[in-house]
Formats: sequence, structure tokens, C-alpha cells
Amino acid sequence: MSWPVHPALGDPVMDTMNFLNEIAARYPAAISFAPGRPYDGFFDVEQIFGHLRGYLDHLAAGLNPAQVRDALFQYGPTAGRIQGLIAEALRQDEGFDVPDESIVVTVGAQEAMLLTVRALFSRPEDVLLVCSPCYVGVVGVARLLGVTVRAVPERENGLDAGDLELAIKAEKALGNNPRAVYVIPDHSNPSGNTLGLETREQVLQIAHREQVLVLEDSPYRWAGPSEPVPSLKRLDQHRQVVQLGSFSKTVFPGARVGYVVADQEVAGGGLLAAELAKVKSMVTVNTPPLSQAVVAGALLSGGGGVRDLTAQTRRHYQRAMQLTLDQLQLRLAGLPVRWNRPSGGFFLSLQVPFPADDRELISCAEEFGVLWTPMRYFHPDSGGEHGIRLSISCLSDEEIATGVSRLAVYLTSRCSATSRQ
Ligand SMILES: Cc1ncc(COP(=O)(O)O)c(C=O)c1O
Repeated sequence: MSWPVHPALGDPVMDTMNFLNEIAARYPAAISFAPGRPYDGFFDVEQIFGHLRGYLDHLAAGLNPAQVRDALFQYGPTAGRIQGLIAEALRQDEGFDVPDESIVVTVGAQEAMLLTVRALFSRPEDVLLVCSPCYVGVVGVARLLGVTVRAVPERENGLDAGDLELAIKAEKALGNNPRAVYVIPDHSNPSGNTLGLETREQVLQIAHREQVLVLEDSPYRWAGPSEPVPSLKRLDQHRQVVQLGSFSKTVFPGARVGYVVADQEVAGGGLLAAELAKVKSMVTVNTPPLSQAVVAGALLSGGGGVRDLTAQTRRHYQRAMQLTLDQLQLRLAGLPVRWNRPSGGFFLSLQVPFPADDRELISCAEEFGVLWTPMRYFHPDSGGEHGIRLSISCLSDEEIATGVSRLAVYLTSRCSATSRQ
């Protein structure tokens, strides 16, 4: 007997995350520009104990020993224990003020996406708009929940607000209900693009006019310059933005802690955050208190926010990106290849004159010793056939230099084969 499973599990997007995590292990000798993992050179096991101690001291200032013990050992409140510290971090880092009750602490931004999409989408005509290329995690969530995804193709420097408006109107003309648009405004995964202030303001105006929510997901925001463009949530004047937050790239991903800011009022009264907490109670019950404690301790050690906490890693990512861009300029000049120039973050994208598919990836890994990710994986519909994502986040300077030189040999050979065809 073979047991049928939910058809969404057969969707290619379901295999992408594992593929990205495992491909590097298949080619250990290759230099991998594939995985979007944080740089681990600054991780130190002792930091975890320090953060835990710092948070326990913080608790002990206001709670008795039994309460402190419970805060670590017991099931916690579904919405979390550290919303006050997260709200303070948002005040310091982002300059916006939200009540603690509008925050739900989640198991990474990934869970925040699941809770939000589950709570907001219920009817067959409800549509989630996403930029294309797009992070696979949100497309996967939508597919698992049976929610229709509609791609809004990015232009070379990111989402165009006019394209978004047209896409919303096209859905409405079809009788559909575009409920939300998912956006990665800073150093996007996978393109590496960052939206300028004007585009952000236009997106918010359109969202308000068309009554569409904006799901802002920006885990790479603090992997670039120290003064990022104001977040969509900061610019939001009509509570149109639900912010999906992550500590994976600012603290560490093993903690699996994120959050969602959902200060919208829902039909029937109350905040969207309270509804998300109901969903969470049936998914993960609560985010592990031990993980919340470590992340809280990290925030306290950074003076309350992530800006100072990430000073060293931000410098690292900016430098690694610049080094990669310099090497690309040096080694690919003259080839019919284009790429964008992010100011930080983990990713950049290349356009090549041949289809960059799985077969290409495998032959590049086997013959040239370098790995990358086909951009095709990140397009919910068609598109991206000629795109390559390079992730520079966890490579050393030597690996970047050698990796780009191997990539140049590969691209030179492929481009000349293409021009002969
Ligand atoms: C755009 C984007 N959102 C969310 C996530 C997942 O974040 P978390 O580790 O907080 O679940 C990732 C992870 O790579 C990502 O690239």
C-alpha cells in the first residue's frame, strides 16, 4: 500500500529548501555561493551562557526566584515572553512605537509567515501577491495552505510600484481579492535588491488606496549599512503593514526566534496579533522560552537593539559584498554577463546568456568546483531562466577570490559555447 499525501507536497518548491541546504554537502570540494547561512566566524558557544545570564539577571530585578525558574522551565504564554524587549528594540533601531500586545514571538520569521497567511486568507478568491523572484518559504506556506500566489515580476532594481498597482487591479478585474503583498525591502533574498524610499512610499500609498495589506519581511536589513532606508512599518500611517521579524541573521539562526508585529484591528474587535496567537497555539504552542531568553539576553547586551549588536557582522557582510563585486568586475569584464551591486546583505544576482538550470549547476560543480543557485527556483511562475543567485555570506576572502575566479572560467567557457550556437 502506498499512502496518498497532500498534493502540495509534490510542488517543486517543497524540495527547494532542502536542496539548498544539502547541495554543498554533495560537492565538498566546491566553493559554495549557494546557502544563505550567516557567517559563523563570530559565533562563540560561551556567548549563549552570557546572554542567558544577562536575561536571568534582568528578570531577577523584577521577579522572585520561583517566577524566574518558571520563565525558563515552564510552558510560556502563546504570544511570548519578550515582546516588551522586542518593542524596545524596534523603538531604538527602527524609530517606531508599537504596543507589546501587537507583537507575537514566533519560531523564526518562517512561522510568522504561516500564522499570518493562515489568519488572513480564507476564501478561494483571496490572492497573495509576491515579488518574483521571491523567497521560497512564503510560496511554500501559501501552497501548503491552498492560498493562490500571484507573482509581480521585479525589474532590474527591484519591485516597481506601478507594476504592483497594475497587478492588484488585474486581480480585482478577475473578481479576485488581493489581500496582501509580500515584500522583502532590504537586500532581498534572492535578488539582493533594496527598495528606495520613494518606492516604499508609493507601495504604501497603493496598499492604502487599494486596501491591501503589506507583509514586510526583512531579515537582511541589519546586514548592510548602519543607516538603512526607513522600514515600511516605520513609514506606515494606516496600519497597513504586518512586519515579519527574524533574529536569525542578527542573533543566530539556531535560536529559531522571530516575531510578527500585527497592530491591525480585526473584524469583531481586537488586534490581529491576538488572532495570530490563536493560530500559534495550534502550531507550536509557544516559542521555546529558553530560546527567547537567549535572544533577549543578546538584545540587552547590545544596549536594547540590534544596531550595535550587529556592528561587526554588518561590516563583515559589506566588505564581503564589496570584495565579491570587485572580483566580478576584475574577472568577468568583457563577458556578456550583468549583475547588480548591493550595498550589503547576503545575495546578488547575475544575468547570463544561457539557461542556468540544474544541469548547468551540476556540471559547474563537477567540472569547475563552484556552486550557485539557479534563480529559476525563486520564481513561482515562469521566469529567471537566465539568472544566478550568488550568496556571499559565509565565505572567507580567499574563498570569494577563488570562487569568483572559478566562476569566471566556467562563464567564459559557457558564454563562448553559447555564442557559437
Ligand atoms: C527572506 C527570508 N525570510 C525569512 C527567512 C527565514 O527566517 P527565520 O530563520 O527567521 O525563519 C529567510 C531565511 O533564509 C529569508 O531569506
